Amino acid sequence: PTGITELLLSRIRDVADYPEPGVVFKDITPLLADPGAFAALTDALAEAAGRTGATKVVGLEARGFILGAPVALRAGLGFIPVRKAGKLPGATLSQAYDLEYGSAEIEVHAEDLTAGDRVLVVDDVLATGGTAEASLELIRRAGAEVAGLAVLMELGFLGGRARLEPALAGAPLEALLTV
Ligand code: PRP
Ligand code: MG
Repeated sequence: PTGITELLLSRIRDVADYPEPGVVFKDITPLLADPGAFAALTDALAEAAGRTGATKVVGLEARGFILGAPVALRAGLGFIPVRKAGKLPGATLSQAYDLEYGSAEIEVHAEDLTAGDRVLVVDDVLATGGTAEASLELIRRAGAEVAGLAVLMELGFLGGRARLEPALAGAPLEALLTV
């Protein structure tokens, strides 16, 4: 679908040397500010959710919340937030993962995912795959099944797709754009 690819690409701003020298940051705020582009993105990700037979949508804090919540509504599915550690008040499952420098931890309410759930993870960007990989671990540890991972954009040169192969275990990775 050339039309949507061009529309989405035209609304993503490259910011050189952010957050550090040599990195080109992909800023999606122009896309979010354009209701037509945001709706097209939501529809495309909701179609991906439909194809996977997902029963729930997990969004990854923070930008995965902005995209995942409307996708869940559009697909008629529940939305489950995976948060950075320390933000959820109930009993949680947590998963640590490595960053370029140091480490991070994400959490989900344990009661939000159960056996029988098929979960689609939604995020804006797949970079190294560390964040997504940790979320897939959480979903499995909760006893649920991974339906797939859907992202707006895959940074192909960082090798996230290959890294995620074991964690996806055959579930699809849908990227609307590869840059
Ligand atoms: C960014 C992006 C993805 C993740 C991708 O999130 O939104 O979630 O990094 O990187 P990875 O594939 O190497 O793990 P980040 O935590 O930087 O910020 P956010 O809270 O704005 O989403
Ligand atoms: Mg993020």
